Amino acid sequence: MPSARTRIATIVGARPHFVKLLPLSRALRRSFDEIVIHTGQHYDFEMSRLFFDELELPEPARHLGVGSGPHGAQTGAMLARLEEALVEERPAAVIVLGDTNSTLAGALAAAKLGIPLAHVEAGVRGHNRREPEEQNRVVTDHLSDLLFVPTADGVAELSREGITRGVHRVGDVMLDALEMAAALTRDRASALGRLGLERGRYVLATFHRAANVDDATMLGRIADALAAVEDTVVFPVHPRTRVRLEQSGAASRFAGAPHVRMIEPVGYLDSLDLVRGARLVVTDSGGLQKECYLLGVPCVTADRQTAWVETVRDGWNVLVPPESGRLAEAVNTFKPRGQRGRHYGDGRASERIADILGRTLGAS
Ligand code: UD1
Repeated sequence: MPSARTRIATIVGARPHFVKLLPLSRALRRSFDEIVIHTGQHYDFEMSRLFFDELELPEPARHLGVGSGPHGAQTGAMLARLEEALVEERPAAVIVLGDTNSTLAGALAAAKLGIPLAHVEAGVRGHNRREPEEQNRVVTDHLSDLLFVPTADGVAELSREGITRGVHRVGDVMLDALEMAAALTRDRASALGRLGLERGRYVLATFHRAANVDDATMLGRIADALAAVEDTVVFPVHPRTRVRLEQSGAASRFAGAPHVRMIEPVGYLDSLDLVRGARLVVTDSGGLQKECYLLGVPCVTADRQTAWVETVRDGWNVLVPPESGRLAEAVNTFKPRGQRGRHYGDGRASERIADILGRTLGAS
């Protein structure tokens, strides 16, 4: 094992990173001096601080305060500030997670400085190169020295792209997080009680992908679909989506649909409560698709493709692009039809990642 003082920098910035940090940081801190660097990609209370507070995450050693902007400007600003931070902090390795612009900037900064780079959630592919997330995944994987892959499909994807060195199938840190969250929720009042919801009697809806919400026609179709759902719809609204709903006028479609309840974005623990209690989830979030599968809740994904193919293959998730006009029908009628498998590991991915990093850095 490396000495307790071997420094590792974990780069985070967006909501899904904070969830993954819960198990990962705990595992890393047993063997390393882990510092967290927050790019500031997400900055609203509900998108960032709430997660650090309720999940008792380690305070970031640095907060780069980059904020929102066009993809190039945002990623470029992160790259410049991360380079400075990494030169000063001199970590033995950099860890990036997932597929956001913060992930890409972290990967570029580490690679250009010659710092060993580890990617958590490597090998995930949605096969749509026009999606910013897919671009971020592909570039990050090709720059990484250690690739921590959640699933068997991910290992095969990397091999097709010629990446076979440094590849470790460890399981999915989101399953680790889900299991850890159970301990944190014990003394909390359920979100269902606070929102006056009945278990199994509502649909949970979330939308934030650029392809869905930045296009006014698409967003209008989504709003129409939610208005045509037969159950109560609980809709925690991402800040980007809220702005677009107002700008495009799509929000007016809910005027005659009081069963659609728009609420502020929720933290991780409330989100898990809401998924667990839902009859079904309709979403364009990759993370939610997986959580539904893990918790045994049917999911309708508003997209043409998914990176989490196992959930569709096993019959618990169905892909229905909003432009098909069949989203509401799918939400009202979809029933899962297969057995769920153990594709996402055993809840110990983070421990494996820490062990492999220890062996790799110890040996160098
Ligand atoms: C990002 C990730 C996406 C991830 C999602 C989780 C990229 C390319 N996309 O998308 O993969 O699933 O995070 O939420 O990195 N905004 C606020 N407050 C905030 C953050 C954002 O108001 O705290 C608004 C701003 O108007 C901003 C817009 O949301 O322009 C989009 O934010 P951005 O971070 O660019 O992308 P996300 O859509 O959040």
